[in-house]
Amino acid sequence: MRTQVAIIGAGPAGLFLAHLLRRAGVDAVVLERRDRAYVEGRVRAGVLEQVTVDLMHRLDLGGRLRAEGMVHTGTNIVADGQLFRIDMAELTGGSTVTVYGQQEVMKDLFDAAEPRGVTVIFDAEDVAPHDIDSARPYVTWRQDGVERRLDCDFIAGCDGYHGISRAAIPADVLKTFERVYPFGWLGVLADVPPCDHELIYSNHERGFALASMRSPTRSRYYVQCGLGERIEDWSDDRFWDELCLRLGDEAAGRVTRGASFEKSIAPLRSFVGEPMRHGRLFLAGDAAHIVPPTGAKGMNLAVSDVVMLAEALTEHYLDGSDAGIDGYSARALARVWKAERFSWWFTGLTHRFPDRDGFDRKMQVAELAYIRGSRAAQLTLAENYVGLPLV
Ligand code: APR
Ligand code: PHB
Repeated sequence: MRTQVAIIGAGPAGLFLAHLLRRAGVDAVVLERRDRAYVEGRVRAGVLEQVTVDLMHRLDLGGRLRAEGMVHTGTNIVADGQLFRIDMAELTGGSTVTVYGQQEVMKDLFDAAEPRGVTVIFDAEDVAPHDIDSARPYVTWRQDGVERRLDCDFIAGCDGYHGISRAAIPADVLKTFERVYPFGWLGVLADVPPCDHELIYSNHERGFALASMRSPTRSRYYVQCGLGERIEDWSDDRFWDELCLRLGDEAAGRVTRGASFEKSIAPLRSFVGEPMRHGRLFLAGDAAHIVPPTGAKGMNLAVSDVVMLAEALTEHYLDGSDAGIDGYSARALARVWKAERFSWWFTGLTHRFPDRDGFDRKMQVAELAYIRGSRAAQLTLAENYVGLPLV
């Protein structure tokens, strides 16, 4: 089998890239380890930057997004019980975010794949890139006990943080940067109306809490928890009590309690691997970088990576220029590091750090008070939250 671009992984990075290349007339095949139900079923964040919304529309995938996506012009912060709003649209000259679950994005991408001739091979076992330093790289995998091989010009490693692509970059070339946070997020989904029409990020003595949503009838809530905590110890009642305590009276008074149908604990990590290209292998999305979920940048960063990568590959095939390919890693990393900084900063501002002392806590309180009273500080938060431009 032969194609121009072999894409490893059918998450948001891999599928958006496949659709972008298809549009441009570049051949691609996506190899995915799991099946569609698994990939689509994973519960992830759901705040889309304008870059991501624009891409959905550019790819003619925005029908449901237009009808069901919830446009948010602002976001809210609670500092020890006091709520204030950041009017992102007013501050940034009209920028907004759209709440639309990653699961919905994946459904739209998968539904459109087959009719548009985007090839996705599911249940591909032991996927391995080969000869990435040569002009003739290829990928092998096993399917139903049979060894398969895909010859290609380029390989796009879109296989997430635990994928195999990043490891194909020689250890003396790949530099990694990491911060592991000493807490996790306990997340809950419940079919109850959200407590607010926008999101609420709360910094409380007892730890961070977040009120988010998936639809007008489905809420997504999180509380910061210890890394050693067990899901079995968090009954719904305990969760709602802790959430309400941390959100403060104003928001808590509007929380509708109900049975949760999803509950899980996720660790928080910042990670970047550099460079994002080695030979004929490119990394995109979580394969190259992880952000803590505070600010919901994960999927949006995967999108900005593949927009840049698709431009570079299209330039190669259509204009015969390798300038984009040669510049991809530096261009993508410039935006990645800014989002890493924002996600790290927003995490530090809103969470309780067990290893920090009273002085650090005072700094948090002072910074939150500063943001509350300063248009400049609010603008800084807002322009990062809605997403920095692709340059
Ligand atoms: N071979 C083939 N596919 C693989 C392999 C492998 N060895 N390893 C992982 N995969 C697949 C996974 O099953 C998954 O479907 O690669 C895909 C990677 O998808 P994501 O982890 O979603 O990563 P990405 O597409 O970069 O999206 C990043 O979306 O899922 C969120 O938290 C994530 O917000 C972040 C964003
Ligand atoms: C979510 O809705 O899952 C969500 C929203 C905002 C975040 C993180 C997660 O910052």
